Amino acid sequence: MFKYIVVGILFWAATIVVADKNLDIPFPYNCSTRSLCYELRFRLPNENEEYNAKFESANENGLNFSLSNLKGNELTLFIGGVENNRFRVIIEEPDHHRYKLEHVLEKDPVTTSLKVDESDDSSVAASDDFGNKVVVRLQPLFIEFYHNDVLETVLEGNRIIMQDTEENQAFTFSVRFVDADRLMGLHEHADDLALRHTADYSIDPYRLRNTDYGTTKYDLNTTESMYGSVPVIYGFGEKSSGIFVHNAAEMFIEINNDRKSAYFMVDGGTLDAFILLGPTLKDTIRQYVDLTGKPHLPQLWALGYHQCRWAYNTTEDVMETIGNFDKYDFPLDVLWLDIEYTSDRRWFTWNASSFPDPVEMLNWVDSQGHRKLVPISDPHIKVDLDYDIYNDCLENNYFVTYENGTPFVAECWPGDTSWVDFLNPAARDYYANLHLYENFPSTPALGGYWNDMNEPTLFDNLYERTLPFDTVHYGNVKHRDVHNIYGMLQTMSTHKGLMARDKGRLRPFILSRAYFAGSQRYANKWSGDNWGYFDDLRFSVPMTLTSNLVGVAFYGADIPGFFGTATEELLIKWYQIGAWLPFFRAHAANGSPRREPFRFSNETQALLREAMGLRYKHLPYWYTLFYEHTETGDPIVRPLLYEYPEDKNGYDLTDQLLIGKNILAASVYTSEASSVSVYFPGENQYWYQVTGDVAKVYKGGNSVDISVDLSFSPVFYRSGSIIPKKPRVLRSTADIKDDPIELHIILDEEGSGFGRIYLDDYESFDYTNEDKYLYAALEYTDKLKTLYVTPIVDSNYTSFEIKAQSLHLYRRNDDDTYTIEVVDQTKDGTDLKTINLVNTFVEL
Ligand SMILES: *[C@@H]1O[C@H](CO)[C@@H](O)[C@H](O)[C@H]1NC(C)=O
Ligand SMILES: *[C@@H]1O[C@H](CO)[C@@H](O)[C@H](O)[C@H]1NC(C)=O
Ligand SMILES: *[C@@H]1O[C@H](CO)[C@@H](O)[C@H](O)[C@H]1NC(C)=O
Ligand SMILES: *[C@@H]1O[C@H](CO)[C@@H](O)[C@H](O)[C@H]1NC(C)=O
Ligand SMILES: *[C@@H]1O[C@H](CO)[C@@H](O)[C@H](O)[C@H]1NC(C)=O
Ligand SMILES: *[C@@H]1O[C@H](CO)[C@@H](O)[C@H](O)[C@H]1NC(C)=O
Ligand SMILES: *[C@@H]1O[C@H](CO)[C@@H](O)[C@H](O)[C@H]1NC(C)=O
Repeated sequence: MFKYIVVGILFWAATIVVADKNLDIPFPYNCSTRSLCYELRFRLPNENEEYNAKFESANENGLNFSLSNLKGNELTLFIGGVENNRFRVIIEEPDHHRYKLEHVLEKDPVTTSLKVDESDDSSVAASDDFGNKVVVRLQPLFIEFYHNDVLETVLEGNRIIMQDTEENQAFTFSVRFVDADRLMGLHEHADDLALRHTADYSIDPYRLRNTDYGTTKYDLNTTESMYGSVPVIYGFGEKSSGIFVHNAAEMFIEINNDRKSAYFMVDGGTLDAFILLGPTLKDTIRQYVDLTGKPHLPQLWALGYHQCRWAYNTTEDVMETIGNFDKYDFPLDVLWLDIEYTSDRRWFTWNASSFPDPVEMLNWVDSQGHRKLVPISDPHIKVDLDYDIYNDCLENNYFVTYENGTPFVAECWPGDTSWVDFLNPAARDYYANLHLYENFPSTPALGGYWNDMNEPTLFDNLYERTLPFDTVHYGNVKHRDVHNIYGMLQTMSTHKGLMARDKGRLRPFILSRAYFAGSQRYANKWSGDNWGYFDDLRFSVPMTLTSNLVGVAFYGADIPGFFGTATEELLIKWYQIGAWLPFFRAHAANGSPRREPFRFSNETQALLREAMGLRYKHLPYWYTLFYEHTETGDPIVRPLLYEYPEDKNGYDLTDQLLIGKNILAASVYTSEASSVSVYFPGENQYWYQVTGDVAKVYKGGNSVDISVDLSFSPVFYRSGSIIPKKPRVLRSTADIKDDPIELHIILDEEGSGFGRIYLDDYESFDYTNEDKYLYAALEYTDKLKTLYVTPIVDSNYTSFEIKAQSLHLYRRNDDDTYTIEVVDQTKDGTDLKTINLVNTFVEL
């Protein structure tokens, strides 16, 4: 029966084999219309194709094997040890002719030497000095990875297929996570946290191919590709492990949740994978992020509220909009400029009639609470002989070309365009320099850039709105092999440009739509062109959680849906949860009605102001989390299972999120919701409700239906924590950054609270270059009525003070309400008088 189905599908597929480039196939393609998937998905192991291995040699760097099968295919296998419980596996043809990915790994991984423990006709076992062991079963090939003698991960040699013709270099392999309870990862998909079972063929495999859907609504709750690709899977369980596939070609991944395996079908490039042996989820994530790099800190303003629209078309519109934020008392840090600020959509130009004096405008923006503008800047260049950038790129061969070497041309925003070939280092440098103040009239109030349409996207549905895979990059590399890093290379170049522009002083800010593993070193990311529906709001939470597990922490969704006309109810609910995602931006398509927060009724305005205010008041907490993320790679927002891996009750809950470990926010994602179910993790702790009218406390280990209404979206503080906050909200982050803080101390049952705080100059690289920052532990005990503030890191903190205006002690009452005792450091209660707490303790 099964055989019959397979034959049937193959037969049908065979009739459309040439259809990959066929206009008749509706966009987007899927597994039945993309040969990579339909040809390989059903190829089950068979004796002719499965590989046997022969041990060839071993040295400090690793082990080499030769592989062969009955069909006469020959391959080489390399297995190397990488420090910190990792292995690297590379399988390729003996002449190593496939494209080798560059730019993705932050540095060469530090290897550990492997010692061969046993070797006979059936297997070879080798181990490092840290409890990691690899056992290679030779006939047929299976590669088993152990940590402390527990088998965690298996690379299944019987599912390796390597196609190797001029046209087709697709390959497959499979990996099994032996101890896993569930699989997670494979960002970016509009999907839940746990990867779903696709191996019953009821749904397509997960697809990673940076894709823009244009005005077609991207599907939610699917495995379809999106703008970004991070080919990492974590097998979460009692022992967690993971795999990072170091390859930027398009791929489909079949997930089998019965046996916790993933079958990769990859369009080209080299089979190069890192095995991450955890053993905790936290370890596994750190092992992955360490390979592709941690970001630098954003400037503080980037954590404030961003207002975007397609488009603020004139200087007057910019000034009036910013003016209204002040008039109606809303905070704002960034106003965004969509494609209309340019002259004819030629990037790095201003429209001379609507933005006659950009420098004067930027100076004005800076004078309004040091706010910023961020303009869009796409990787395509208008074909236009009057446009210097076009001429320069043409002359210097900086464009992606057809196979015959002439620049590829297709339609995008400006009409006919060509695409900068960011694989070419000279093109990257040229493009970087376009950001210099002398090349694009601007000032530091132009806070950063928005790299959009960089999947890359063009308007023709042929080739699924992107460059044909046989177009050619620098070094004779086919687009097929680098499709998923194109956007990352643009951000790398933009980042270099911003570093040069500001002489390495200011931390660059770049928002990118397309993404790959490693992009986090240059840019942050949002979920692209979503729609104004409750389901879009709903999926923004698990999408952000997954992004945070794969190193793409500075992530969020456009509020309240870019396309469409969100209802006022949805708008309110979206601000309430959007304020708790790392990137906090509102956006609107050009057809949407104007909807800045000041355009609504007084009642709605009050609710939006409250949600935005919560964001600004918690900036010290956010900034500390961002700092910790840059040091560790740990997620900023977290699913419950990350902090409570033992607690199965939390595994499937992805409509609530932890911000760090001390704040819990529940999302309300249905219209007219009257209650939401919230699960409180941690048996021995309590959660203090800090939004809404009642000061209630909930005990961990319970699920509670909490009544909600339009005005209330539940947020809780964890007992035993200290949350640093700002006492007031003014125009922008700059306006409040020097205000003293409040310390909210949520006492645990022993009467203690712990927290951390990080301070620096909020904008420069002095924190990394000169160690100028303060990172301190906060510890309070009620018994001694003492707060200890202890620097954790030996940094130069002479210029930083922790200025606390008041301590707020949260105490649980017997009826599960709580009271707050405020210890005001200011004698008359109004003056923002401060004390420096560092290395002192305060007796209360
Ligand atoms: C794949 O696309 C084809 C052609 O548009 C369509 O008929 C089919 O239903 C799609 N399959 C899935 C699983 O979406
Ligand atoms: C293994 O193979 C690689 C590449 O083919 C080679 O560079 C390396 O020297 C080999 N190592 C050993 C131990 O033979
Ligand atoms: C997502 O799809 C699955 C079936 O694949 C379904 O069970 C689930 O209810 C859907 N979730 C939502 C939120 O639509
Ligand atoms: C800005 O200009 C574009 C293009 O002309 C137009 O589509 C859009 O509606 C304008 N935006 C506003 C807010 O007027
Ligand atoms: C400049 O902007 C105006 C109005 O916003 C528009 O009509 C005009 O076409 C633009 N000019 C160019 C060269 O883009
Ligand atoms: C809304 O609030 C403003 C400012 O407080 C006030 O002037 C105005 O009268 C209010 N509008 C309504 C309809 O209540
Ligand atoms: C620490 O920073 C201060 C203020 O910037 C500076 O004066 C001092 O020299 C620095 N100390 C060290 C040891 O670098």
